Amino acid sequence: MIMARERVQDAGVFADLSTELARILALKVPADRLGDAADPALLLDCGAATGHYLHELLDTTPHTRGIALDLSIAGLKRAARHPRTLALAWDLWQPLPLASDSVDLLLDVFAPRNVSEYARVLRAGGLAVVVTPGDAHLRELRAAGLLTVQGQKLQQLRDQMTPAFGSAELNTQVTATASVDSELAADLVFMGPAGHHHEHAALRDGLVASGVSQVTVDLDVSLWRG
Ligand SMILES: C[S@@+](CC[C@H](N)C(=O)[O-])C[C@H]1O[C@@H](n2cnc3c(N)ncnc32)[C@H](O)[C@@H]1O
Repeated sequence: MIMARERVQDAGVFADLSTELARILALKVPADRLGDAADPALLLDCGAATGHYLHELLDTTPHTRGIALDLSIAGLKRAARHPRTLALAWDLWQPLPLASDSVDLLLDVFAPRNVSEYARVLRAGGLAVVVTPGDAHLRELRAAGLLTVQGQKLQQLRDQMTPAFGSAELNTQVTATASVDSELAADLVFMGPAGHHHEHAALRDGLVASGVSQVTVDLDVSLWRG
């Protein structure tokens, strides 16, 4: 599943999300929050898997260091490849292994959210960026076995985050269409929770038969200020 996620990310299927995250970093995080050589800023990726988005943000900000938290050792081995990333096997439902008020930017892309801990570790003025799937996300792959997106994800997110963070500072949507071949389409199904229930070759054969050649990317991105 992690290798499938890596292939999808390397193929650029979610490149528009990377662009949006870079834009948010540039617009919403003041330069003095991005650290300096003596006091680097801390970026925390919760449920980081391969650390793909964390690495991209680290690459654009030289005075930062990253921490990737996940339960997946296969993911963390990849997350640890970036020289400024500390990859830690950690259950997000446990108290996080970070001091209070220590994180400048927290990223949660499609991962469980331990909101009270996020509020504790984020510095005052720091930014939490949460990415959740929209209703149309990868809709072309549902027939092939992709687990369907629960309705009302956005409302659920607001209900979870508001007690600790107040209202979102910003909500944006990333929408795009990406071309995929059957291998990549199978990877998109396999890399998520549905991967536990399917065999990759069978998925690919089903997708060849169905002729899927493009997928909808539909993501909600919200910003929460600590
Ligand atoms: C859908 S994946 C998203 C991964 C990554 N953020 C990305 O977008 O590529 C969700 C990740 O959350 C991790 N995860 C799920 N439950 C977790 C928990 N309780 N503690 C830590 N990580 C968890 C999974 O191992 C998985 O890597």
